[in-house]
Amino acid sequence: MPERVGAGYTATARTLHWLILALLIVQFVFAWTMPDIKRNTPVTTLIGLHFSFGVLILFVAVIRLAYRASHGEPPPEDGIPPWQATSARILHWLLYLLLFVLPILGWINADWRGMPVSFFGLFEMPKIIATRAPGWNWTGDLHSLLATYALLGLVGLHVLAALYHYFFRRDRVLQRMLPGV
Ligand code: HEM
Ligand code: HEM
Repeated sequence: MPERVGAGYTATARTLHWLILALLIVQFVFAWTMPDIKRNTPVTTLIGLHFSFGVLILFVAVIRLAYRASHGEPPPEDGIPPWQATSARILHWLLYLLLFVLPILGWINADWRGMPVSFFGLFEMPKIIATRAPGWNWTGDLHSLLATYALLGLVGLHVLAALYHYFFRRDRVLQRMLPGV
């Protein structure tokens, strides 16, 4: 049976959840302040940090999903209408999906541009595709669009749902993800 603490998420699940949020905030700061990546743009510090943090997010997402797969999720709070439980589940899986698709698309695009993807200078990630591999030039646009619209849009909905539970339904959905509650 999955390990559970009371009716909420385990301390590990909560830590991983808030760690991803913190890493994403840092990642968007790099994404929005790094130079525009064009044909011969060198991998300057900010671009290198965007790559390294993106790879770190991918690693944490793998750990988080493995943990989720082995520990399950707490059952919905009492009295939550089934449509809300179902839409929350769909939204959560879309968020998990983006945590994989986004860094992998970014990584493929960096490969396509011939930019090395180093993990904080410790080691270099293998190349997934060859530089300028034909048919892969769309990966940068899709990466940027998904990050800006799909991820931010879905996280916005997710936060609104959490606030709705806290302020309007006044149940304990938000509390079961908050540290120490
Ligand atoms: C969850 C992780 C990531 C998020 C949220 C993210 C977010 C973003 C965003 C918002 C942009 C657009 C920046 C702009 O407005 O110009 C961008 C561009 C880019 N990112 Fe990421 N990124 C992530 C991971 C990665 C990784 C792991 C890599 C490479 C290893 C990467 C490589 C790139 C590249 C090459 C571009 C420029 C694409 C283009 O303009 O064609 N990203 N990223
Ligand atoms: C201020 C920002 C955030 C708040 C207030 C928040 C709040 C919550 C709450 C209350 C839950 C528990 C929902 C439930 O019990 O059904 C939850 C779960 C979840 N959150 Fe967030 N969240 C935030 C940011 C994020 C971000 C940035 C991501 C990832 C992109 C994310 C992904 C998830 C996922 C995947 C779950 C489901 C966990 C599981 O069942 O394995 N959240 N969040």
